[in-house]
Amino acid sequence: MAENSFDLSSYLKERVKKVEEVLEKYFPKEGDYGERVVSAGKYSLFAGGKRIRPILCLAGCEVVGGNWEKILLFSAGIECIHTYSLIHDDLPCMDDDDFRRGKPSCHKAFDEATAILAGDGLQALAFQFFTHPDLVKYVNKRRLLKAIHIISKAIGFEGMVAGQMVDLLMEGKKGKAKILKWIHLNKTVKLIEASVLSGAVLGGAGFKELKALSSYGKNLGFAFQIVDDLLDILGDEKKLGKKTFSDVKKQKLTYPSLFGIEKTKELAEKYVKKAVSALEFFGKKAQPLKAIAEFVLHRVH
Ligand code: IPE
Ligand code: IPE
Ligand code: MG
Ligand code: MG
Ligand code: MG
Repeated sequence: MAENSFDLSSYLKERVKKVEEVLEKYFPKEGDYGERVVSAGKYSLFAGGKRIRPILCLAGCEVVGGNWEKILLFSAGIECIHTYSLIHDDLPCMDDDDFRRGKPSCHKAFDEATAILAGDGLQALAFQFFTHPDLVKYVNKRRLLKAIHIISKAIGFEGMVAGQMVDLLMEGKKGKAKILKWIHLNKTVKLIEASVLSGAVLGGAGFKELKALSSYGKNLGFAFQIVDDLLDILGDEKKLGKKTFSDVKKQKLTYPSLFGIEKTKELAEKYVKKAVSALEFFGKKAQPLKAIAEFVLHRVH
């Protein structure tokens, strides 16, 4: 009973609120000559996302006994990186998607050049947050450097950027499961894993804790992108906040395109099960992370 009594929806509501308060407080004020690009970054950042990556970062900190409220700025930086990736992902030269988070994509609400710059600005803002005096004063410096290293490695040439590259290169091509898995690992899984791990590092995790959380984050990340692929076909545009059949139109290499819907659902379930079993190590403390994994499987947006 106690296991099921965890109220994920109030948990998420509370955490989203805290992350957004920090994003609002530390987001640069508009009003100077650069106002247009600042507004564009703000437009996408506050268009309403699930904030799942910052929440995972906070939960990673909490599960190892750290004080999550002290690392909110770090988690907010992760959301800036994620939002930058979405703005660029939607550009006409990439996925060419006109809707995001229930609103016109950044390049539609503004223009392409502004959207590119807004993404660039958000990525820089993330590092401004990671090194902000209001964070630095609370956390151990060596841990902070390690956490920044984990995130930066996950999002560049050895992670998200490379994954996005190959995702585009494989459009319209026949690919095998191996390359699809590589794309998902790099474009999505690594940042999700890094979100949990960076939080855990900041919270003072030891080797065994990091190992368990790495397995959790990886499996959760795969489930997350597989479900995203499914939602492209099965999702409801209104709830999803983005257009369905975008992958189909672009002939993207996705799990449903390769395995069909039923097998894809099974695979998502399998990854969530593995994610949950990696949490055994933590016992009851892992309730939030466990509930997040179930949420990822059944999400509709
Ligand atoms: C969308 O991420 C991009 C993927 C990696 C699948 P989310 O589904 O987390 O998007 P938001 O942040 O809630 O809008
Ligand atoms: C996006 O994957 C991954 C990144 C933004 C790094 P998708 O292209 O599948 O995400 P959506 O479906 O547009 O949100
Ligand atoms: Mg894409
Ligand atoms: Mg896309
Ligand atoms: Mg997608």
